[in-house]
Amino acid sequence: MSGRTVRQYLQMLASAGIRHLPTVRLPAPAPKPGRGPTTVQRRPAPDATAAPSSTALMSKSTVRVPEARADAAELLNQSFDTQEAKTSALCSLSKMVADCRRCSELADSRTQTVFGVGNPNARIMFIGEAPGADEDRQGEPFVGPAGQLLNKIITASGWKREDLYICNVLRCRPPGNRNPLPQEAANCREFLDGQIRIVDPDYIICWGTVAAQNLLNVETAVGKLRGRFLSYGRAKVLCTYHPSYLLRNESAKKLVWEDMKFFLKELESADA
Ligand code: URA
Repeated sequence: MSGRTVRQYLQMLASAGIRHLPTVRLPAPAPKPGRGPTTVQRRPAPDATAAPSSTALMSKSTVRVPEARADAAELLNQSFDTQEAKTSALCSLSKMVADCRRCSELADSRTQTVFGVGNPNARIMFIGEAPGADEDRQGEPFVGPAGQLLNKIITASGWKREDLYICNVLRCRPPGNRNPLPQEAANCREFLDGQIRIVDPDYIICWGTVAAQNLLNVETAVGKLRGRFLSYGRAKVLCTYHPSYLLRNESAKKLVWEDMKFFLKELESADA
């Protein structure tokens, strides 16, 4: 088994909420020769405006696991009402992601896919933009400098990272950390919607313009979306600035803290 395969496998288990993993030191992957042209493979894009369907719910609590390459739709056409069912479905979906080559440029340049991490039963889901260099290397979202800042926000809000579910609009690193192309976001949408459908969070926080605009299918700047709850399916959605933006614009930190206080107040009244 290659180092890359082991890394992907450990990442899939972690993505599915299996946290007790051995620490494996692996050599850095060799650079890939002869990258292809900078095009994305054209496939029919999933309907980015569709809210997660509740009509697809069935009364089973066990999860049929289709072949890794089977359409995610088959996997998602079930109910995920136990932690076990959610863990198993996330694991299957992450295998499909690891095999995905819909965006050929990203698939050629990635070290590995970055599926998502956290509690499969999380009440709160975080959505970011796309993996950066650190995430691409480690296979986990938000582990670089933006992730360190996000961790501080998580702690200041009284949460632990493992209580949340964290993922991105894209599961592959765009070269040079450029913004995701619309076609790339559309190609990855099935996986994002799958994660939302499986975890079924009460709340989603979109970190930054890319996450907010893609999830909600709007063109409004994040500065105009923040400060109120929007909705996606049954989840309440709060949009705020991306931690990377805060690293460049110190003065925006107080706005994000206002957003977090607004969010915490909502949680408090929901729990009252
Ligand atoms: N920025 C993101 O949006 N996501 C990550 O995972 C890391 C940095």
